[in-house]
Amino acid sequence: MLIVYASKTGNVQRFVKRLALPSLRLQTGEEQVSEACVLLTYTTGFGQVPPEVERFAARNWPFLRGVAASGNRNWGQNFARAADLLAERYALPVLLKFELAGTESDRKGFMEVVAQLEGGRGALFRAQ
Ligand SMILES: Cc1cc2nc3c(=O)[nH]c(=O)nc-3n(C[C@H](O)[C@H](O)[C@H](O)COP(=O)(O)O)c2cc1C
Repeated sequence: MLIVYASKTGNVQRFVKRLALPSLRLQTGEEQVSEACVLLTYTTGFGQVPPEVERFAARNWPFLRGVAASGNRNWGQNFARAADLLAERYALPVLLKFELAGTESDRKGFMEVVAQLEGGRGALFRAQ
């Protein structure tokens, strides 16, 4: 599964690089994909979706299979809220909300849900 991600200060990038999955880092949001992908983003403003992610999602939503967001729990109710906004707008499952660059356990959980998206539970069992 292709991982499309946005990262401003490097946390989401660190999370993605440790996954060893094909990935595309958004620059402007003008990027276009032609295959199923999962969208990973940071949260900005007061619980907002970064503009480059808004642009990308608006252009590519038919290819999106799920969304995950990084944030910081210091932001309280706005923690990783970018995932909720995108999920609501494009009827996507929220795969994960994680703090900063995430933990080993976050990555493991994320890989499991991506495996489920790719091939159902059979693929998940084969991966273990
Ligand atoms: C200006 C600014 C606003 C932020 N707003 C939020 C927020 O509303 N909710 C949240 O959970 N995290 C918020 N964060 C934290 C970032 O989403 C978090 O640090 C994330 O890991 C950054 O990812 P990146 O390093 O890949 O850019 C904010 C950070 C900055 C600098």
